Amino acid sequence: MNAERQEPRPGDDPAVPAFERARTRRQMARAAGLHPDHWYAVEHSHALRPGAVIETRFWQRSIALFRGQDGTIGAVENRCAHRQVKLSLGEVAGCRLVCPYHGWQYDTAGRLVAIPHALFGQPMPRVRLAAFPVRERYGLIWLFPGDPALAEATAMPEIPEVEGARPWAAITVDFTWAAHHSMIIENVSDFTHAHLHRSYRPFTDATLIELRTEGQRVRLAYDVLVGDGRFSKHFVDRSRVRVDRMELCFEYPYQWSDTGGRIKHWCFFLPMDARTTRVFFLFYFDAIQIPLLRVPMPRWLQLPLLRAARRVMIRPLLAQDGGMVEAEQQAYERRPHAPSIELNPAVIAFQKLVVAEWRRHLEGAMPRTAAPAELA
Ligand code: FES
Ligand SMILES: [Fe+2]
Repeated sequence: MNAERQEPRPGDDPAVPAFERARTRRQMARAAGLHPDHWYAVEHSHALRPGAVIETRFWQRSIALFRGQDGTIGAVENRCAHRQVKLSLGEVAGCRLVCPYHGWQYDTAGRLVAIPHALFGQPMPRVRLAAFPVRERYGLIWLFPGDPALAEATAMPEIPEVEGARPWAAITVDFTWAAHHSMIIENVSDFTHAHLHRSYRPFTDATLIELRTEGQRVRLAYDVLVGDGRFSKHFVDRSRVRVDRMELCFEYPYQWSDTGGRIKHWCFFLPMDARTTRVFFLFYFDAIQIPLLRVPMPRWLQLPLLRAARRVMIRPLLAQDGGMVEAEQQAYERRPHAPSIELNPAVIAFQKLVVAEWRRHLEGAMPRTAAPAELA
């Protein structure tokens, strides 16, 4: 048994300890951010129409995400260089982001390109807001919050099954939960919580049979009965897929699972701050059958079926997880020094990786001034 029996010491701050002051592995994991030098899913593509601007956040950093009329996406520091008003409160004109207050205009590279009022004899200020590389893939908008020079060469998840001429049926589900990302990372790969989902039975009688950390990956496998719910089990084509084993991986900073090579998912985490995480689940399937007939379901029927399943089963099931990680967050904030008992070695491996990568980030971070605007 791996118990961290860390009772408060005299003089302990009752508040949640910051990373530098954390004493236990769990406290460190709960204070760590995710390394910014990766691509992060921040929004559904369809949620950002041409001419729209929205706010997103990466680890307390507010970012204005906007789409020009030509479809190009810009992501810039969400503070006008003039009086620091959030640019996400403004609007998009053509391909420029316009501040709502005095109308200063920025392009997708964050450059101030127009001021629609008097300059009082002064030259046009040379301003360039921090701008973030963005991409669109898998129906999602991806942002690189770290060093922009690394963006191009940094790999993002490769999911060939949902691209190409005959993509698998896929659906995306997202939630914003009031919980630290490490709690969610642990939740999605730790099958000891089958009890929570006993009415849906997505995984039953799980036994951990493999666990190994390889660099930035924690790989694990369970002997487990997958998809044994009252309704779901009739839709899984067991002649084509083995449902008695599931492989999972915390492929930092993402997570995925694979059942028999035909039922898969990825999970993308957006750490908005230390107690708020947006999480995008992408599920994709190649083994859906028509119940009773037991023949493969035609492709045109798969997507409507999955959309219905998302509403009646997948969202409610994941909402159970959301309720629990939010409860865990509240409990942690009430008693951050309370003893914790962790039985699943996979959870310990996840926490170690989260802590190690955050430490690597802090050690590598150049001392930067957090200026809202840089001179061009
Ligand atoms: S605060 Fe943005 S234009 Fe003045
Ligand atoms: Fe769960």
